Amino acid sequence: MQYVHCPVMKNEALEYLVPKRENPIMVDCTLGEGGHSEAFLQKYPNLKVIGLDRDDEIRAKAINRLSPFGDRFEAKATWFDEFWKNYEGPQVDIILFDLGISVFHYEESKRGFSFRKSEDLDMRLNRNKGFSAADVVNTYGEKELADLIYGYGEERYSRRIAKAICEYRKTKAIRKTDELADIIYSAVPGEYRHHRIHPATKTFQAIRIEVNGELGRIEPALDNAIDALVPGGRIGVITFHSLEDRPVKWFFRNHTDRVNILTRKPVIPTEEECRTNTPSRSAKFRVAEKRGVENE
Ligand SMILES: C[S@@+](CC[C@H](N)C(=O)[O-])C[C@H]1O[C@@H](n2cnc3c(N)ncnc32)[C@H](O)[C@@H]1O
Repeated sequence: MQYVHCPVMKNEALEYLVPKRENPIMVDCTLGEGGHSEAFLQKYPNLKVIGLDRDDEIRAKAINRLSPFGDRFEAKATWFDEFWKNYEGPQVDIILFDLGISVFHYEESKRGFSFRKSEDLDMRLNRNKGFSAADVVNTYGEKELADLIYGYGEERYSRRIAKAICEYRKTKAIRKTDELADIIYSAVPGEYRHHRIHPATKTFQAIRIEVNGELGRIEPALDNAIDALVPGGRIGVITFHSLEDRPVKWFFRNHTDRVNILTRKPVIPTEEECRTNTPSRSAKFRVAEKRGVENE
């Protein structure tokens, strides 16, 4: 099987997320293709990993990849906030979040995450439930769309884009990624079309965040996950844009009664990684350690 996603800041994750107990447990909250989990399982022969992913297809890839580790690895089909809300298991030593979606989603899933392809506008990680990207662009009101594109995409031309979407769909429902990308391209001013990033980038991000409820899951998950950490246990979060990073930064700062922050400034990828693993370029890694008897 081919794995298309190269785990971001793998070395930094291994360096910071060090288990202290002899038979440690790690929860990889965003399993993906299992790249990070594999690295930890290889490094620590007594480690057990529980891997969470709400996407059935990518989770199946990870299960296949990590099968050589036998019962040291267990996968769960769940949103990470729901997992932690109901968690009643043993205390854990390491918790990793590597937020967002994987290269697999853009390149192989055929679910319309990439504006560079012509695919149906779906964008759901859980394909069994919920509304799709097509539902968002064809049913939301103009103001609702503009607010969404601004709020979750920080897109300065959100109003123009929302207006263009609503105009277009008066004649025809928007079904395909390239159709939506063209609408956005035509809606923005000429000079904006030739920026460093494609003019559809931020709108696609915003719709994906809306479809999967991504941002609302972060804080509750961190809150409950920290409760499950053993004193001295470590929690690390890799984020890819400021809308993800800000809540993590403030969550750690607002909970210094529960955790010590180990990364005063976020760790960023090396120049070498930015060159060779381009999705890593915007990544930030923050780590905290649970307070308690061991480290007071
Ligand atoms: C950036 S990828 C993780 C890549 C992984 N660390 C690796 O090395 O292959 C993020 C993964 O988390 C999943 N995901 C995103 N948000 C989630 C959530 N709230 N709950 C569960 N899984 C989530 C996505 O389906 C995706 O596979």
